[in-house]
Amino acid sequence: MPEPDMLFDPHRYRTDFPLLATLVRGDTPLIYLDNAASTQRPRQVIQSLVDVYENHYANVHRGVHWLSDQSTDLYEQAREKVRVFINASQSHEVIFTSGTTSAINLVARGWGDCHVHEGDEILLSVMEHHSNLVPWQQLAQRRGCRIKYIPLAADGSLELEHLAQLITDKTRMVAVTAISNVLGTKNPVSRIVDISHAAGAHVLIDAAQSVPHEVVNVQAWGADFVAFSGHKMLGPTGIGVLYGREELLDAMDPFLGGGSMIRRVKLEGFESADLPAKLEAGTPPIVSAIGLGAAIDYLVEIGLPEIQHHEQKLVRRAHEVLEQVGGVEIVGPSPDEKAGIVSFVMKGIHAHDVAQLCDRRGVAIRAGHHCAMPLHKQLGITASSRASFYFYNTEAEIDLLGEALVNAKRVMRVKEC
Ligand code: ALA
Repeated sequence: MPEPDMLFDPHRYRTDFPLLATLVRGDTPLIYLDNAASTQRPRQVIQSLVDVYENHYANVHRGVHWLSDQSTDLYEQAREKVRVFINASQSHEVIFTSGTTSAINLVARGWGDCHVHEGDEILLSVMEHHSNLVPWQQLAQRRGCRIKYIPLAADGSLELEHLAQLITDKTRMVAVTAISNVLGTKNPVSRIVDISHAAGAHVLIDAAQSVPHEVVNVQAWGADFVAFSGHKMLGPTGIGVLYGREELLDAMDPFLGGGSMIRRVKLEGFESADLPAKLEAGTPPIVSAIGLGAAIDYLVEIGLPEIQHHEQKLVRRAHEVLEQVGGVEIVGPSPDEKAGIVSFVMKGIHAHDVAQLCDRRGVAIRAGHHCAMPLHKQLGITASSRASFYFYNTEAEIDLLGEALVNAKRVMRVKEC
């Protein structure tokens, strides 16, 4: 992999993002640090949506007319861009969904309902987002399988020493996140895949916090399924991806039935279409997929190694600044072990108050359980505040977060620790 550009300048890109120039309530510059929830979009992506609607839009794979051909070509080009971006071997291994949640649900329904039986086991981790917990819990209710959890170590990593013991000959699926959306922990995906495969289990990786921020090579990972969302990587909302190995996607039941996913329909029944159409029933998110393609073009132009390197710098700075504020407990590992996500608890101030007081200074962070209630319970807290970064954030913005937190302590009359 080439060395990242050490002189990366986020200002080169910020002007592409209209929303980053917004004044909060008309007078305070926006400091957008809620990128793990959703990123902003550059003009290039917004323009790609306008361009399709103004010049190329029709339904895909249906018409024999000129406009439908254009729209279909653009939609399939977007699939090919995703394929190259994640290094899938074939474009029909890329299924467009509405997001990570629907991608995981598709596997839990389409694969799980066929291949998971009573007494089988699913292995998850304690740090999963609800979207990688609830679909499996629902599967367990339907199929009578058992769910086990990889525990959390004190440093915010997963206790993987016992992974081989946790996986039994009954384990059908190991579903874990590549990067925790709360702790920022980077999990060793290839190691998890190797141990799981050695025991005969399949692996799904929730890559929602990973694909936007680092080079992801699904073949190098060796994972069976990988899910991620467009809106966390500059793309539109309502578009996501399920990558799956061809033979596994082939062996899935098309969970959604309707148009597009069929080869033939008779009154007696139907015959499914080939991949990827088989798993994309109905009119797909055509324009959003094309917008995701434009987002990928933009990210590739910057370079994922550069993005990752810059975010590392930001996370180190954030740890320094938060330590200087005082009375702040960061949850999760040290900066070198994590992605650009810093969750924290402030002594004497509720996470929601922290976020509201930050907002008064134009600093947008998230507060709450971040769709990871079991993880928060494990940490012994009900809520945390979270700052999460992207390549357009600057060290100066992190310093302003620090100032907003010092102000929060002053407003809430929290004594120096
Ligand atoms: N999954 C998103 C988050 O962590 C919404 O904030």
